[in-house]
Amino acid sequence: MNDPQAIGRDDEIDRLKQQLAHAQSLTALGELLGTTTHEYNNVLMTIINYAKMGMRHKDDPTRDKAFEKILAAGERAARITNGILGLARNRSDDFEPTDLAKLVDDALVLLERELRKYRIAVETKLQEAPMAMANANQIQQVLLNLLINARQAMPRGGQVVISVGYDGPSQMVELSVRDTGGGIPQEKLPRIFEPFYSTKKGPDESGKGGTGVGLAACRDIIESHRGKILVASTIGKGTAFTLRIPRVPERSTAPAAPITLGTRPATPATDQNQSKAG
Ligand SMILES: Nc1ncnc2c1ncn2[C@@H]1O[C@H](COP(=O)(O)OP(=O)(O)OP(=O)(O)O)[C@@H](O)[C@H]1O
Ligand SMILES: [Mg+2]
Repeated sequence: MNDPQAIGRDDEIDRLKQQLAHAQSLTALGELLGTTTHEYNNVLMTIINYAKMGMRHKDDPTRDKAFEKILAAGERAARITNGILGLARNRSDDFEPTDLAKLVDDALVLLERELRKYRIAVETKLQEAPMAMANANQIQQVLLNLLINARQAMPRGGQVVISVGYDGPSQMVELSVRDTGGGIPQEKLPRIFEPFYSTKKGPDESGKGGTGVGLAACRDIIESHRGKILVASTIGKGTAFTLRIPRVPERSTAPAAPITLGTRPATPATDQNQSKAG
């Protein structure tokens, strides 16, 4: 068990996994900058056009309307930059009480335009759920990976349903992403989390995908949260990924101490293997 060589190898694997996670987060950031710059530009055009309208028409109703539009567009621009800056800035490894529904909102601000472009309708089902003990930036990363995969599984459009809920008995907050894409053959399911497993022929026309590291990184992130990532898929119907992340301890009086990343469960996680928080 305490074979020093095996320990050295584990350290090396941990180090490589961290590198992979970092590289992944940079790729996602780059991808998002591309799509959101365009979106940002649209918002600016709205602001400019309504400002011109307000200057041309001096009457109160027209000016009120112009200001309303400018305010709404300005707020939207702020949400977009905040989403991007959040991803770029928040590189902390701390786990903190995290509102998953808010993460869903943030991810959609960033991906909305792209999903619309591929004729993908988005539905959210956000149920009341306690905060998850999580690193928001990393979960955001996972969510973006799942949404990009979903989008790529539906080249001719479809639907994505994102739900947040809570499973009381296991004290896990659940976040799932379901698509109406082509599905994954049963015999391929065990392989999809392997690093570099991909059925995509390189990047698609928007420059995304095909390395096979997305789901491997997602699984590492979720396991470092002592959570689970589950997949269910039916050929021709679609695929659902579910994240299960421990909630913040219920009756904790002490302030939540941040947990630092890199601590993996000692044994490989099985579906029954859940460590109870608190
Ligand atoms: N929502 C989905 N529907 C159908 N197949 C999927 C879905 N998500 C993942 N897959 C399958 O799992 C494989 C691995 O996914 P993963 O995200 O790890 O890599 P990738 O998307 O191919 O490349 P990368 O994420 O590195 O750009 C995909 O190539 C695809 O075959
Ligand atoms: Mg992927």
